[in-house]
Amino acid sequence: MPNTDKELRLSTGPDLTIAIAGLGIVGAETARQLVQASDRLSARAGRCLRLVAVSARSDSDRGFDRTGIAFESDALALARRADVDVVIELIGGEGGIALALAETALQAGKHVVTANKALIVHHGQRLAGLAEQARVRLKFEAAVAGGIPALKVLREGLAGNNIRRVTGILNGTCNYILSEMTNTGRGFDDVLAEAQAKGYAEADPSFDIDGVDAAHKLSILAAMAFAEQIDFGALQVTGIRQITDTDISYAGELGYVIKLLGHAQPQSPATVQPCLVAKTGQLAQIGGALNAVEFTAEPVQTVLCTGPGAGAGPTASAVLADVIDVAASRGGLPFGMRVGQLARATQKKDKQARRYYLRLMVMDETGVLSAVTSILRDQQISVESMLQKGQSDDKPVALVLTTHPTAPDQIKAACSSLSSARFISGAVMALPIVDEA
Ligand code: HSE
Repeated sequence: MPNTDKELRLSTGPDLTIAIAGLGIVGAETARQLVQASDRLSARAGRCLRLVAVSARSDSDRGFDRTGIAFESDALALARRADVDVVIELIGGEGGIALALAETALQAGKHVVTANKALIVHHGQRLAGLAEQARVRLKFEAAVAGGIPALKVLREGLAGNNIRRVTGILNGTCNYILSEMTNTGRGFDDVLAEAQAKGYAEADPSFDIDGVDAAHKLSILAAMAFAEQIDFGALQVTGIRQITDTDISYAGELGYVIKLLGHAQPQSPATVQPCLVAKTGQLAQIGGALNAVEFTAEPVQTVLCTGPGAGAGPTASAVLADVIDVAASRGGLPFGMRVGQLARATQKKDKQARRYYLRLMVMDETGVLSAVTSILRDQQISVESMLQKGQSDDKPVALVLTTHPTAPDQIKAACSSLSSARFISGAVMALPIVDEA
């Protein structure tokens, strides 16, 4: 297709024709960019990028010029069109039409770009196998941390490294809630309700606040980082529902903030859980709805990438980068190596000793402290610091301790004994303290 932009003199290949399935906020923004910024995007791709077809629930105006762009009411029809080279799947959902579309498109020899993390977590390896067979690309940068090019950094920029650890703030909703609690001293329910009213949190926020969304992203990162098959079921996931304003306040007094962190290392089970990070460290500075991914690797040491993890613009940015990579034949295999080379997921046991923050609601009675320390002593847990404020004759008060490095089994056993002790009310909160590299 002729184009007047002088940069397009770089153009080396035939046009790359694109179809988008799903015109929600991300699909519409991606389409708008492909139409309005076609010259710039094509120059970057070295080929003319042309949006030729879209599919959505309704054929309504989505804020971009639809001239010359076909509309299909059946998304699967996009995968069967002879004039389509790349199918962008932005429908969402783990299976259903999104899965059928990806399978059909790959089997028809079309490249697939998707932002769908659940699809990749549950079917990514099989889809990557189909892409290998058909010699086409399967790309999913937008599935992990939205606008942060985390997968590209890992797969390409850090390709020469031995990855030792991946740590991430991978859910913007949780980071927003915890940041607001930290900055305002308000409670979890109050901040969540406000976030929902403002549209920052979903009406049903469980996927986000129970850590599932972050776990999806972490399992993709871990598979790519350690060349392993995705093993979503092996992830240990704890969300942020149980974090109280008391925890935020005590953590602050001890010099920490609480963040929901995804954490993966080669020999340990991957975890998503609330953790204490030093106020002065890099991760503590990632506030509001921002995401961050930190890679610790040899020989590079530590690389931190941060930016917006969701929203129309950031997600479209990642989708467009994938399309440009497809056009330029860049980016290689979906998981950085052939599916057959990914190591089988094995059962791993978490043995790593960490310092812990423990918060107990105790009756303010003589002998309680000594009973608590006896339970900790029985598990060989050494206390580093202790805080108790206020007093009450009839209501439990918070007792906060930090420990010296302790193995997960020891902390679990201690929490179980403490939880059943007569003088303790409610669950014991045990959060790891993460020391940054
Ligand atoms: N709901 C996610 C978040 C974005 O809050 O970060 C999509 O994964």
